Amino acid sequence: VARAYHENVINHYENPRNVGKMNKDDPDVGTGIVGAPACGDVMKLQIRVNDDGTVKEAVFKTFGCGSAIASSSFATEWVRGKTLEECSTIKNTDISSQLKLPPVKMHCSMLAEDAIKAAIKDLAEKRRLKEGASQQQ
Ligand code: FES
Repeated sequence: VARAYHENVINHYENPRNVGKMNKDDPDVGTGIVGAPACGDVMKLQIRVNDDGTVKEAVFKTFGCGSAIASSSFATEWVRGKTLEECSTIKNTDISSQLKLPPVKMHCSMLAEDAIKAAIKDLAEKRRLKEGASQQQ
């Protein structure tokens, strides 16, 4: 079975980068939690953003298949140092082509794209709330 997979995906699966979690209440942290309806797998991806709007670090926890774990590991490496705008342009096909995922595993990379977008959205919402709060003072 393993031979069906490219070494890139196996490498990220066996040595996942940036497994962990951050305080979701930290104002500089955005958290995305998404699930794949097809299989029930769940991915949590968090980003911490610098004042200049670039991603300082990203961590993940994935309850799911090997391809989802590899996709999230790859995604946390990919977003580091990028602006949020750049991060929001990442496509699941970028991830799946890097990892050379087989077609039946495309939805696993979709989970990573969705998780990045959800983390960015969470951060944007937090910042909006913060601005609203400081305007009221
Ligand atoms: Fe569903 Fe991989 S099988 S995320």
